[in-house]
Amino acid sequence: MSLALDAAAQDLLFREARTANTFTDEPVSEEQVQAIYELVKYAPTAFNQSPLRVLLVRSPEARDRLVRHMSEGNRAKTAAAPLVAVLTADHDFHQKLPRLFPHFPAAKDVFFSERPARERASSFNAALQVGYFIIGVRAAGLAAGPMSGFDADAVNKEFFADEDRSVLAVVNIGKPGPDAWRERLPRLAYDEVVSTV
Ligand SMILES: Cc1cc2nc3c(=O)[nH]c(=O)nc-3n(C[C@H](O)[C@H](O)[C@H](O)COP(=O)(O)O)c2cc1C
Repeated sequence: MSLALDAAAQDLLFREARTANTFTDEPVSEEQVQAIYELVKYAPTAFNQSPLRVLLVRSPEARDRLVRHMSEGNRAKTAAAPLVAVLTADHDFHQKLPRLFPHFPAAKDVFFSERPARERASSFNAALQVGYFIIGVRAAGLAAGPMSGFDADAVNKEFFADEDRSVLAVVNIGKPGPDAWRERLPRLAYDEVVSTV
């Protein structure tokens, strides 16, 4: 009773939501992806830098180019999912900082003039946004199948050769199909995770 979120929403987003390995044929529309983004864009990042960039892989030709770089165990489900999203971190995010953090436009040069600092910040903050995105997919009544099992250098070369961004996760999206998951795996207990000083 300590949570403000109603029980049905808790189930939808967390308790009953699962990582899906199979999907039905039902397509995922542009409108659904837009609704997901319009919700999760409000979740926080440092300096409001918002470095996540999403590539929707819709054409069969692009799907083939991606599947080739997935690890063996991830290939079939990535080939079959109704929609696949490549979630990336934009290391050039600082160009947009004056718009996103207008009360301190100098942050762009004070904190992010060096590329290694930008890459560190964007990789961390875009990874947070990957988590938000997964929960957003669930909020749309869909299931996500996030994967980090792929050749990241090859995916970067294949899709982002001319941009300063790198892939963080590939996410299959759709309505769960037959035998979409195995039994729920255990989670750590509160006391194993949380300590107090
Ligand atoms: C960042 C990330 C990367 C993952 N990579 C893979 C992967 O490459 N292949 C795979 O089959 N599952 C992958 N998973 C799925 C996890 O194993 C799964 O989400 C976790 O066991 C929890 O499952 P549940 O949501 O059904 O409880 C990944 C999950 C996340 C969040």
